[in-house]
Amino acid sequence: DEAFRPIGSRRTLLRGGGPLAGTVHEEVARACARYGGSVRRQAAGPDDGAANGRDDGGEAGGDDGGPYDLVLALTAAGPLPAVAEAVLAGFRRRSAADDGPAVEDEGIGEEGYVVARRDGVTVVLADSAAGLLYGLFHVVRLGEEAFGAERPAERHRPAARLRMLDHWDNVAVHPVMGQVERGYAGGSIFWCDGALRDDLTRVAAYGRLLAACGVNAVAVNNVNVHAAETRLLTDHLGDVAAIADRLRPYGVRVHLSVNFAAPLALGGTATADPLDEDVRAWWAAVTTRVYEAIPDFGGYVVKADSEGQPGPHAYGRDHADGANLLAGALAPFGGVVHWRAFVYNHRQDWRDRSTDRARAAYDHFAPLDGRFRDNVILQVKHGPIDFQVREPVSPVIAAMPRTRVALELQVTQEYTGQQRHVCYLAPMWSEVLGFRPWGPAGPGVADIVAGDVAGGGLVGVSNAGDDPYWTGHPLAQANLYTFGRLAWAPSSDPAAILDEWIGLTFPLAAGRDDGRLREALHEIMDDSCGTYERYTAPLGVGFMVRPGHHYGPDVDGYEYTPWGTYHFADRDGVGVDRTRATGTGFTGQYPPPWSEVYESLTRCPDELLLFFHHVPYGHVLHDGSTVIQHIYDTHFAGVEEVERARLRWAELAGLVPAALHARVRELFAEQLRCAEEWRDQVNAYFLRKSGVPDAQGRRIP
Ligand code: GCU
Repeated sequence: DEAFRPIGSRRTLLRGGGPLAGTVHEEVARACARYGGSVRRQAAGPDDGAANGRDDGGEAGGDDGGPYDLVLALTAAGPLPAVAEAVLAGFRRRSAADDGPAVEDEGIGEEGYVVARRDGVTVVLADSAAGLLYGLFHVVRLGEEAFGAERPAERHRPAARLRMLDHWDNVAVHPVMGQVERGYAGGSIFWCDGALRDDLTRVAAYGRLLAACGVNAVAVNNVNVHAAETRLLTDHLGDVAAIADRLRPYGVRVHLSVNFAAPLALGGTATADPLDEDVRAWWAAVTTRVYEAIPDFGGYVVKADSEGQPGPHAYGRDHADGANLLAGALAPFGGVVHWRAFVYNHRQDWRDRSTDRARAAYDHFAPLDGRFRDNVILQVKHGPIDFQVREPVSPVIAAMPRTRVALELQVTQEYTGQQRHVCYLAPMWSEVLGFRPWGPAGPGVADIVAGDVAGGGLVGVSNAGDDPYWTGHPLAQANLYTFGRLAWAPSSDPAAILDEWIGLTFPLAAGRDDGRLREALHEIMDDSCGTYERYTAPLGVGFMVRPGHHYGPDVDGYEYTPWGTYHFADRDGVGVDRTRATGTGFTGQYPPPWSEVYESLTRCPDELLLFFHHVPYGHVLHDGSTVIQHIYDTHFAGVEEVERARLRWAELAGLVPAALHARVRELFAEQLRCAEEWRDQVNAYFLRKSGVPDAQGRRIP
C-alpha cells in the first residue's frame, strides 16, 4: 500500500464504467483516503456502465472539475478531457507513422495501455478496463517519477495472452503431500481441511497481487486430482464460483484441474473412453453447468497418463483424442484445455540404459502435432526432465509448429531450495525464454509461447500460500512477481525486475538516498540461482536430492530407482550419454544447430555437459579445469557465496521490518547448513569414487 502514496496524495480523474474500472476506482480511493488526495469517477459513454449508478456525478466532458494530476480513461468513455484527447491523438498518429497508414485506427490492444505525461498531467488510456487496471499498476511502479518530467506516449501490451498460475493445492489434506503439493508457504489460500475457506479475504488480496504483476489466470487445484477434488467439477462447483467471484475484480480468470476419468469416477458413465458418446455427452453437460455458474471460466488443466493419473491410454486412445474430448466441451464457451506434456514412464528399470526419461515427452507428443483442436494448449515444462536448476530447454517446444504451446515454469521451489534457500529464478527463466531452438536467426521460446494467436502463454506453478509473507521465504515473493512480469514482457532484464520488486516491497527503505537496501538485495539475489546451482548437482546432471520430499542432498538417492533420473557415476566418470552416436539419441530431438552442438563433446556448453555426455573425471572443460576439479571448486564456492549473502543480510537489520529480518536470518542459517551438507556429500562422494584429490588440498570429509 505504501507504494500507492504518490497516487494517493494527488487529484485523479477516472473515466470508465463497469466492474473492473470500479476496481481501479476503489484502489485510487483507498490510496486517497490514506494519503489525502482525491478521485473523481465519471462513467460516461454508451457501453461503459454509466447506467450502473456508479457515476459520481461528474460531467461528461469539458469542465469536469479539473485540474487533475492523473487521468485514467477508457478510450470509449469519450469525450475525454483535452489532455487525454491530445495524448490519444498523438498515439494514433505515432502508431500510424510506425506501422503505415493502413493501421490508422489501431487500438491500444486487449489488456494494453498507453501512458504519458503532458502539460503536467499523467495520462493512462486503455481500450479495456483490464488495460486501465494494468496502467494503474504501471503508475504505481513509476512512483514519484510518474509525476515528474513530461513523458511521451508509451504503449504497453502483454506479450502472452495467457499468464497463468497453477496451484498444486488439494482440497482435502493428502496423506503424503499435505494441503499443498510441493508447497512451502503454509496452507492453501483457497482450501482448508477438505473445504473452501470461510474467509476469502486473502483470495481477493491475492487477485490484487496478481494484477499488480500482470497474471490473469489461476488454476485453483492440484494437477494430481484426488477424490475430493474431482467433485469440484460437479457438486462442489459453488466453491470454485466463490473463488472466481473474488478474483474477477482483478481481471483474473479461474481454471480447474480435472480428473480425466471424472465421468467414470463420479458414476456418470461406464467408461472414460474419449471416443465414447456417453462420455462426450457427460463432459458437454458438466461443462455447460460450469459456465452457468462461472460465465468467464477459463478452462481445464489436465495431467493424463502421467505418474499414475488416468488418461486416454487405458482405452487405446492417444493424447490428442483425450485433449480434443475436453476441448470440444469447452469450445462453445471459449474455454481452453491445458494438456500437460509431462508424460514418461515412472516405473522404468534402472538397469535398462536405453530408456531415457528426457526423450519421453517428445516421443509422445511430436507425432501428434496438427491433431489438436485450436483450444488445446500443450503445457510443456521448461526442461525435458523436471524443473531442475539446470536443464536444456525441452525439445517439445520447437517440435509442435501446428499446436499451441505453453511454457510451464516452477515458481514453487521444489528443486531449488524449497523456499528455505534464497534462489531468484528469473535469470534461469529469462535464459529459457531467450533460447532460440533454430539458432540465432530463428524465433525464441518467448516468441513461440507468446505468439498472438498461436501461443499458449506462460504457466507457473504458484509458490504462494497462507503464510503471512505469502511465500514462506519473504524473498521468494520476488519469484512470484517476476513470473508475472516476464509473462508480460519476456525480454525484460531480471535485475531490472528485481529492482522494481525491491522498490514496491520496501518503498520506504528502498527510497532512501544511500540505496543500501537496494544494493544489498541485488548482491544477495541477482546470482542466487547460480549459487544454488554451484552447491548442488554439478554440470547439468540434475537430481541427487533426497527421494520423496526432494530437499537436501542424496547423491545416489534416485540412482537405482524406477524414476529415470540417473547420473551413472562410477570410478572412471559421470554423466548421461544422450548422444545419437553412442547414447540414447535424445540430442536428435533438437533441430540444428543444437542437435549438433549438444551431440559434440567439444561444443556442448559446460553447464550441460553431464546432461548430454558421460565423461571421465579428467575431462577438460572449456575453462581449462577438469570435471572433478570443477565439482570441488564450485561446491566450495557455492557455500562461500551463501555465507557472504548471510552476512550481507545481517547488516540490513533496521532497514526492513524486524520480524521479516528475523525470518530471513533464520532461513539463512538453514540455507548455510544445507549448502554445507550438499558440498560435503557431493565432494566426498566424488573423491571416493574417483580417488582424485582436490588440487588445492582443501578438506573433504
Ligand atoms: C514433480 C513433482 C510432483 C508433481 C509433478 C507434476 O514430479 O514432484 O509433485 O505432481 O512434478 O508436475 O505433475
